[in-house]
Amino acid sequence: MARTKVGLVGASGETGASILNGLLEDGSFEIIALVRPSSMSRPSNVALKDSGIELRALDLDNDSQDKIVAALEGIEILLSAVGAPGQLSQLPLATAAKTAGVKRFVPCGYVTVIPPGGVHILRDQKEEVYNLTRRLNLPYTFIDCGWWYQISFPKLPSGKIDYAVMVDNPICGKGDVPSALTDLRDVGRYVAKVIRDERTLNKMVLVYDEVWTQKEVWDLLEKVAGEKVERKYVSQEELEGRLGEYKKAAEADPTDFMKMLHVVETQYLLSWGVRGDNTPEYAKYLGYITSKELYPDFKPLKLEDFARELVAGEAKEIYVEMKAMMKAAFEKQQQQQ
Ligand SMILES: NC(=O)c1ccc[n+]([C@@H]2O[C@H](COP(=O)([O-])OP(=O)(O)OC[C@H]3O[C@@H](n4cnc5c(N)ncnc54)[C@H](OP(=O)(O)O)[C@@H]3O)[C@@H](O)[C@H]2O)c1
Repeated sequence: MARTKVGLVGASGETGASILNGLLEDGSFEIIALVRPSSMSRPSNVALKDSGIELRALDLDNDSQDKIVAALEGIEILLSAVGAPGQLSQLPLATAAKTAGVKRFVPCGYVTVIPPGGVHILRDQKEEVYNLTRRLNLPYTFIDCGWWYQISFPKLPSGKIDYAVMVDNPICGKGDVPSALTDLRDVGRYVAKVIRDERTLNKMVLVYDEVWTQKEVWDLLEKVAGEKVERKYVSQEELEGRLGEYKKAAEADPTDFMKMLHVVETQYLLSWGVRGDNTPEYAKYLGYITSKELYPDFKPLKLEDFARELVAGEAKEIYVEMKAMMKAAFEKQQQQQ
């Protein structure tokens, strides 16, 4: 049987790599990675090419509409896992997908459950893409995945897990708000199922592995590591105060992504840590179907197993290339000063 042609934007990124692995594991897809010309030489993209995956050049920020349409030729399902700053660059992609006759567009979701309309800037940018998709009458699936296991843990006093913990998370409020969590490695395995499922056409889907409160996650880490973890609490009022300051700083310098990142991070804490948006129940209220309803036989990776990998020094570090690029850029800047 002919394999379904799937185009993937962002295959070199964290979510994109998980999706790529999920599609490869599934085996029923012919994958075309749509890659920025400036990134063709990135080690992850070179590795894709070497493994036999077709790479097509696509620059969402600079290519003409005709060029984007041409890059999508023959693609039946179009997936985007463009990084956080690139959400609005998907607007021309949606329009081109309609012209190119794409049968299902899956723009970049892959965040927690958040209602649109002022709670989170990233969610609102995604909503712009979703709304254009609907205006175009382009068949779609919007997929969110809860919060990754990989960024759910605080650091340990011993420094044992510093190699893989990117952010030393605080505990929001009393830490008793439940939140849907997913191992990043499962995201792609879910996506492979969702995109060939007729039940998910023109639907929003929440895929998730397990639901935990922050207090439970901290208790789990202490149990697995045999170390007491310092609990740094942050109240709703403190978070709201910080958000106001971060917003002002970001507005004063809209081109500085790091300033915007503080806004993004704080809005996440308020959404999943305080408001309690990121639950399957709220997702269903917002109109999502969940992976538990769709795929009851799916065997999710367990948070406890991930905690053991983390403590054993066996977890995969995330954003390695990005961190190396940022370090090199910082060093270059220092040399020039
Ligand atoms: N649920 C969670 O816990 C969680 C955690 C982190 C992120 N996320 C979300 O997941 C989504 C994907 O983010 P990520 O962090 O996985 O991505 P990422 O690792 O930053 O990778 C971004 C990818 O997008 C590509 N890209 C960026 N701008 C592009 C453009 N203008 N045209 C074409 N390609 C472009 C990059 O390609 P190059 O090779 O050209 O650089 C790269 O492959 C975002 O919505 C993010 O907010 C969710």
